[in-house]
Formats: sequence, C-alpha cells, structure tokens
Amino acid sequence: MLLMAPTLNDRDVLADILAFHVEAGVDVALGEQPVDRFTESAAERSAAAGRVVLAPSAESAPAPRPAPPVPAAHRPATPALAGEAPPPPDLAAVEAREAAASAPTLEALEALLEKFDGCPLKHTATRLVFADGNPQARLMLVGEAPGRDEDIEGKPFVGRSGKLLDRMLAAIGIDRTTAYIANVVPWRPPGNRTPTPQETAICLPFICRQIELANPDVLVCLGGPSAQTLLGIRDGITKARGRWMDYDTGSRVIPALATFHPAYLLRSPLGKRMAWRDMLAIEARLAGLPERAPD
Ligand code: URA
Repeated sequence: MLLMAPTLNDRDVLADILAFHVEAGVDVALGEQPVDRFTESAAERSAAAGRVVLAPSAESAPAPRPAPPVPAAHRPATPALAGEAPPPPDLAAVEAREAAASAPTLEALEALLEKFDGCPLKHTATRLVFADGNPQARLMLVGEAPGRDEDIEGKPFVGRSGKLLDRMLAAIGIDRTTAYIANVVPWRPPGNRTPTPQETAICLPFICRQIELANPDVLVCLGGPSAQTLLGIRDGITKARGRWMDYDTGSRVIPALATFHPAYLLRSPLGKRMAWRDMLAIEARLAGLPERAPD
C-alpha cells in the first residue's frame, strides 16, 4: 500500500488546520499576510537584553526594532508610542498613568490611546474601541472588553450583548444619545479571552481618566470584572449587583451600580429579573438628580 504524506493542498488537512484555529478562538483574519509572532517576540526579548537576533528568513523577519529600553530613571516621561518596543507591564502601567493624566479632553485621551503602544492587546486587535454614545450623558456604562463585532466596528456593545443592552436601556427610556458607553480594556483580547491582570492594569488609568473627563452622574459597571476593577471590590457580580457604591474620580464622587453583563443574561435569562430591578434603580437615581447646569 502506498501512503502519501498529506500536503497543504489536501482539503482535509486544510479543514483540520482551520478547525484547530476556530477551536483556539481565531474567528477573524486580521491581515492579508501571516505574521510570525514567535520570531517577533524572540527579537523583542533579545532587543530588551541588548542582543541582536538574526531572523530565520527575510519573509518572516520582524519589523526592525529600535534600541533596547533605557532604564526608567533615564527615560523621558513620555507614553509608549507606536513604533517603540513595548515596555514591560509595570513600566507600561506607569506610562499609561502619565499619558492618561495628561489628556485634557476625551478627544485628546482617545488620540493618546491610539498612539499608546504599551498594551500588547493593541497588536492583536483590529482597532481601538474607545466609546459610543453621548459623552455629555448623565449615565455612563462600562463593560469589560470589546468582542469580535466591536473589534470590527470600533464601537462598544454593538454585537448580540450590545443589542440586549440597548433593549435594557430602552426599557427605562435611554438610548445612545442619553448614555455614554465604554470598556475597561479598549482592545479586543484574542479569541475573546479574559484580559490578563497586567493588561487590565495597563488600561485602567485610561478608563479612569475617561470616566473623570466624561463626569457622569451615574456610573454602571456591566459584569463582575468591570465592577471589581473599577470599584475595587472582590465580591462576584451576584453579590455585588444592585448595591449603590461610591466611585471616586479624584475630582468628584459618583454613585455607581454593578449589574449583570448582558452577555451573561443571554446565557442565563433567569438573571433578567434582577437586572430589571437594577435598571429601575438606575432610572430612579437619574430621576432624582437635580437639573444639570448648562456648560
Ligand atoms: N462585552 C463587553 O464587555 N464590551 C463590549 O463592548 C462588548 C461585549
């Protein structure tokens, strides 16, 4: 019997490779050309160690990297900008804090985030997902991180869970002209995995500044990760939801409420009863607020 080694032209082999990628969470092609991330990260590690690495072939060679990072004490206090080798997570978090604090407006903050290169998620995401809705709204909602649809459109909560969120808001007379929506992490984690604590820590100063600049009267954390990150609690969402807490922007204390993430409600519709109570609590809180003075 003659056995043929499968070639890449075999339909079945290609189907297996595709199935492997789908199982691993790959659901969208990010670019026309394949990128060899192993060579890229080996080059980054070597650059950080001050060595030069020869790429295995010209085709898979990573883009040339600049000089290795200078110790923090000798660096100017500028954010990690596009084109530089990504800084280590601790340094990236410090740079994120400095960059975020320097943004005088939401537009400036978005522009800084576009240039910020310190979060590895930026390199796998298609685009930045900064915000949607009305930045002048009294209500701000913050989710965890964009998913596939958000990554494609560049706006938060536009996929299935976004549609449910829209219906939940509509039930209390709110839409995207009267709410401002963002995420703790503004880049989609590959395969919709949970952002790592380092990725979250790097992005945190930006969302905190975004909340401070938007200055809403009511903040809603969608899901446990958002509540734990922004409100500093350790409770799971089932325990934390429905309880008013204080969110201190640094310039003002804002009432904040955690509720179930709409993606959770899609999987567990029984939670909708409690989510409905939370929506009513939000409505009542907004109704009880004094009129806002015009800007
Ligand atoms: N889930 C989130 O937390 N944010 C989005 O923008 C979409 C889904």
